[in-house]
Amino acid sequence: MNLTGEIFFPGDKSISHRSLMFAALCNGKSKISNLSTGKDVQSTKNCLIDCGIKIYNEKSSYIVEGGKFINPKKELDCGNSGTTVRLLAGLLSGQNINATFVGDESLSNRPMKRIIEPLKLMGLNCSSKNFTLPLKIKSSKLNGINYKSQIASAQVKSAVLLAALGSNKPTSFIEPVLSRNHTEIMLKALGVPINTEKLKTTISKITKQLKPFNFNIPGDPSSAAFFAGAASMVKNSNLVLKNISGNDTRLGIFSILKQMGVTVLKSNKKNILGEKIIDITVKNKRLNGIKINENQIPSIIDEIPIIAIIASQAKGQTKITGAKELRYKESDRISSIVLNLKKMGADITELEDGMIINGPKKLKGTFIKTYHDHRIAMAFKIASIIADGENQLDSIDCVDISYPEFFETLTKIT
Ligand code: S3P
Repeated sequence: MNLTGEIFFPGDKSISHRSLMFAALCNGKSKISNLSTGKDVQSTKNCLIDCGIKIYNEKSSYIVEGGKFINPKKELDCGNSGTTVRLLAGLLSGQNINATFVGDESLSNRPMKRIIEPLKLMGLNCSSKNFTLPLKIKSSKLNGINYKSQIASAQVKSAVLLAALGSNKPTSFIEPVLSRNHTEIMLKALGVPINTEKLKTTISKITKQLKPFNFNIPGDPSSAAFFAGAASMVKNSNLVLKNISGNDTRLGIFSILKQMGVTVLKSNKKNILGEKIIDITVKNKRLNGIKINENQIPSIIDEIPIIAIIASQAKGQTKITGAKELRYKESDRISSIVLNLKKMGADITELEDGMIINGPKKLKGTFIKTYHDHRIAMAFKIASIIADGENQLDSIDCVDISYPEFFETLTKIT
């Protein structure tokens, strides 16, 4: 069996969250097409509706009537979505809103200190349960800050930048390594005074109402990554991943595949609202192990589960370090990856901030513990393709968090 053909992907999850939030800021009707169909983006949509924003379907697009937020009458349920709570907490803080954020069991255990600390420095009055959800924010007058973040997180950066849209002085945010920059790119395209120099972004309050926009969201490279991984491992494969986001902060996996020996070709560039759209062709070649360090991690943060599986099929050692952030995702992804890959027969060692994988090893299908983590489920479903025997996943519904069409697409190409 080889994997060939073209695949189109639903809208990028990060860009989808931001499109809804930014349309909510704009005065009038925005039209958003190819919105992510995942549950995380539905959580953002529902929270915005609870804050008085009208969002409805028109044919296959969404119309967002934005311009004015109101205090939600009930708790804002962010489900499983870290992006929803962290970005909305920032955005609503800047809009003088009182709100309480809650989430599912996984989200309720994820760290919120990373956003609470800078937002408090800006003057936000808020309370939480030991820096986890529920998080209550109260309408406060915000100041500008100069903030140097210890972690490279687009969610933290975006929370601060979005809060600054309502503060009286400019705010600067410095990050240790560049994380995904959709917030900066899209706000700039909408006319917000925002400027990035290397790792420092400075933003000022919006002085005039933002104009609504039409946006066709590029396909999600983090969803495409699972198929890129499959094509890299299966002999004679040649897959074209169509119309995906060409934002460089998201394409780390393709640089890594190239480094491992895979043929990766980019073509057909378009640009919309500052964001690039490209096609990527992936052709299988012999894989070599490589070293991956902390400077590369932000651009592959969601792709490490599939990268670990690819590495198990590469000749020699792959060492991933500087990836401690993986422990604070939907599951502790370092331990979820290591436990399941070991069970499949891989030679893998857990590190505090990463893992070491020696390959190639023939994998065998086994019972997979997904921890209800969508990316663990999809990565280990792909691992089945190159294993002796099928993996049995303890949960498949979790895939709906980011990519409900995953199984259907997989059936089409295998
Ligand atoms: C996201 C940023 C990343 C990523 C998440 C989406 C975003 O989180 O893991 O899936 O849309 O800003 P961190 O920036 O916290 O690492």
